[in-house]
Amino acid sequence: MKLLHIDSSILGDHSVTREIGREVVGQWRQRHPGIEVTYRDLAVHAPGHLTADSLAARQATPEQRSPEQRAEVELGEELLREFLAADVIVLGAPMYNFSIPSQLKAWLDRVLVAGRTFKYTEKGPVGLAGGKQVVIVSSRGGVYSEGPAQAMDHQESYLKAALGLAGITEVRVIRAEGVNLGPQQREQAIAAALDQARGLSRKAA
Ligand SMILES: Cc1cc2nc3c(=O)[nH]c(=O)nc-3n(C[C@H](O)[C@H](O)[C@H](O)COP(=O)(O)O)c2cc1C
Repeated sequence: MKLLHIDSSILGDHSVTREIGREVVGQWRQRHPGIEVTYRDLAVHAPGHLTADSLAARQATPEQRSPEQRAEVELGEELLREFLAADVIVLGAPMYNFSIPSQLKAWLDRVLVAGRTFKYTEKGPVGLAGGKQVVIVSSRGGVYSEGPAQAMDHQESYLKAALGLAGITEVRVIRAEGVNLGPQQREQAIAAALDQARGLSRKAA
């Protein structure tokens, strides 16, 4: 069994998603001792934005590629390999400006590739990477799961739509929200998410 663990928070040791994601992965390791974990820290090694040059690199033959284009294609292939090989993906995904960190978006731009993880048909796109479980580890300063800000959640809703394009429907969310509403709310939200992480692993085992 293979687990891909992704972090994308820029907040280092203060990051909520990093703390909860570690717990989620720890739980999987406990329950599946042979599990093979690949870790990728997108805040440390961020893929660049997709550019015209990176798209051209995909179309070119190996001989036609510049050294930069070769590096781009190699990175894209490595990210795709990790994504396709994973049975479980633990996705550390903070809310930044109502959406996800741009580093995480750049990663999605490398793994959501027509012909590789989904294909276009006459009836619309069809996912090619189904059959995996994804745990979205979500944290946000405010509250979006209910109340007036619900429509402003372009983080969890976006991730579910993006993963759905690849055919991934088994998506669970572990959420700490309201973490910037005060120290008590923060502590409670993190404790509840850690509890949820432990319960989730019991259910998934
Ligand atoms: C750049 C940035 C943008 C943020 N934007 C939002 C936002 O739009 N809505 C919100 O509720 N919280 C926002 N926050 C608060 C984060 O969602 C919150 O701190 C969360 O814990 C981030 O996850 P992390 O701690 O793993 O980085 C933002 C934080 C940062 C650093």
